[in-house]
Amino acid sequence: MTILAPSLLGADFRNLERDIKTVEEAGAGYLHLDVMDGAFVPSISFGMPVIASLRGCTNLLFDVHMMVEEPVRYVKDLRDAGADLICVHAEACRHLDSAIAQIRQTGAKAAVALNPATPVSAIDLVLPQVDMVLIMSVNPGFGGQKFIPYTVEKVRTLRNRVRSLGLSTDIQVDGGITPDNVEEVLDAGANVIVAGSSVFRGDAGANVKKFLEIFERAGKQDS
Ligand code: DX5
Ligand code: ZN
Repeated sequence: MTILAPSLLGADFRNLERDIKTVEEAGAGYLHLDVMDGAFVPSISFGMPVIASLRGCTNLLFDVHMMVEEPVRYVKDLRDAGADLICVHAEACRHLDSAIAQIRQTGAKAAVALNPATPVSAIDLVLPQVDMVLIMSVNPGFGGQKFIPYTVEKVRTLRNRVRSLGLSTDIQVDGGITPDNVEEVLDAGANVIVAGSSVFRGDAGANVKKFLEIFERAGKQDS
């Protein structure tokens, strides 16, 4: 099944609860929460207190994308704040294997993210230990950027690798996804789709439904 994960970064920060409820009611599966530290990426977004306070207003799975140096420092606090899935960048962890193990120990799902220029082979050895891999399709740090086309091949490479190992790892794509380019990444093997501006710009409920219709059509073609 393909899951839509609206990115909170694209929402109206004065009306977070309203926007979250809108995408939840329209059928989104995850809420993608972008935590930025101003060091791994230039920008600073939000952290644990915001996540903890939003936890009370939705049942959506909290998919926390850590754009933070040495994110292992925050794994326990994030889990306590309500994270269901914690995603760390391979480029930000000195000890990636240990960071993944510590996420799993909290009971959260573990994921690893790759910047556009990082090859899929960088995570070959830890692939069996993660529930999801995030292929960034923009350079992380800001919403509203343009999709980088060469990342589609990375999704295809990863899907083939996952299949050949007999794994069922989810593949997430994040950055510049719109209804016009999402079919391409679905076709390459992605099954968790992050979208910020293309969900929250305009009518968020209608935009979610538009994505879900595309997912359904793509699913029918596969079978
Ligand atoms: C970018 C973040 C994304 C961002 C996506 O660094 O990781 O999750 O919010 O926003 P759009 O869909 O607008 O590119
Ligand atoms: Zn993200």
